[in-house]
Amino acid sequence: MSEKRQFRAIKGTRDILPPDSALWNWFEKTAREVFESYNFRDIRLPIFEETELFARSIGEETDIVGKEMWFTFQEPLDIEQIIQERAKAGSNPYQDKYGDLRAILFEVQRRVQALTLRPEATAGSVRAYIEHGMHLLPGNQKLYYVGPMFRRERPQKGRYRQFYQVGAEVLGPSDAPAIDAEILEMLLVLFKRAGLVNTTLYINSIGCKECRPKYVELLREELRKVKDKLGPDSQRRIETNPLRVLDSKLPEEQAVIEKLPRISEHLCAACRQHFSELKDELSLRDISYEENWRLVRGLDYYTRTTFEVTATGLGSQNAVCGGGRYDGLVELLGGPAGVKGIGFAIGTDRAILSIQESGNVPRLPGLSVLIARMGPKAYPVAVNIAKKLRACGLAVELPPQEMKFGKALGLADKLGARYALIIGEDEVASRTYTLKRLADAEQRKLTENELLEYLESERRGSGA
Ligand code: HAM
Repeated sequence: MSEKRQFRAIKGTRDILPPDSALWNWFEKTAREVFESYNFRDIRLPIFEETELFARSIGEETDIVGKEMWFTFQEPLDIEQIIQERAKAGSNPYQDKYGDLRAILFEVQRRVQALTLRPEATAGSVRAYIEHGMHLLPGNQKLYYVGPMFRRERPQKGRYRQFYQVGAEVLGPSDAPAIDAEILEMLLVLFKRAGLVNTTLYINSIGCKECRPKYVELLREELRKVKDKLGPDSQRRIETNPLRVLDSKLPEEQAVIEKLPRISEHLCAACRQHFSELKDELSLRDISYEENWRLVRGLDYYTRTTFEVTATGLGSQNAVCGGGRYDGLVELLGGPAGVKGIGFAIGTDRAILSIQESGNVPRLPGLSVLIARMGPKAYPVAVNIAKKLRACGLAVELPPQEMKFGKALGLADKLGARYALIIGEDEVASRTYTLKRLADAEQRKLTENELLEYLESERRGSGA
């Protein structure tokens, strides 16, 4: 027999257990309600996609694609099937018509498909939009998603290898700043409703394919001049992705970065106008924000508007949400030209942490009633009333074994039940129930109808 061993969750992954899972469900449910009130609709995407999809959209030089894809694997190949298919198509399955024996190897290589667990869901949303011809549907497509993402980051508080996002994307022909402002409004409405207080919204515009390349070149030239004042990561980025230098948190680089040219001074007229209209739209909606010229974001697909929301109580991983415009992405991934896009993703793990740290956890409906019964005649009555109470939407615990009343009441207390329903021989004989409110030990005798009516109205009153 093999040795006994216990298993643990993989580093960077975790179990979300009750009662926390109730808070998670409530947060996700609230997000769905808010998003649907803005006419966004749920899209359910695969958890893995072709590696190439992420490499092309997020960018080869980004941390996500370069270091954090978790994990990449290959579709197993059926070599026998490839040989048979080639045999069917031509006379010799192994070599080409010139007798080159490498032909079969090239064929195998061509068919190897690298797959990756999704590090984010914008790429998948855009892939689905193109694949299903959604550009032919009327107006903008407003989509939202809820689910796990995977990045091989160094785990710490608020940073996991399997984490969760609630995100939204708008894809379609228009890039009106009203769309940017509306999704920011929606985001903040959700945060307010979810008790996520002490948040700050930062916004920026990083230009378009007209003005950004010129700015990036200028930035690169300026960075080359101060190269020896920068650390190795930033030095490398001067050539690969100079915008990312602006993201640096290294204290010794801050003074140098502050003196670099700012994108806001190099936006083309159209981008400048888009950004200024966005700010007017935000004022119209009473949304306060801070401009942050260094907000370039870690993914390559962004154009124009970028934004982030930070929250307190999270330590260094304080971004609860990030997003922005990605107007060229649909075309880059082989879709029609001219489709615009914008979206965001909230890190659910961090949103929940922040709600918990601020002490704003809502009182969520838990166990309503524990049924305490005594005597053989009480059992069928208990089974029956449990079914009726559950049908009214109440959470009911019916212990499988009979317990002494004292013990049952103790259990009800430990489980956090609001009421204990007592069914003993007296109750069976008089066709009544004794309902005890555990908070103040108040007891009342009720008929079945009275009981159902009373608990129903209690449930409505408490929101349970
Ligand atoms: P992102 O900034 O990479 O953007 O991630 C969005 C949010 O996901 C972050 O602000 C953070 O709260 C959370 N997050 C990211 N990595 C981790 C992690 N390892 N552990 C816990 N939480 C994490 C995107 O993913 C873009 N797809 C957002 C977007 C949608 N842009 C346009 N549309």
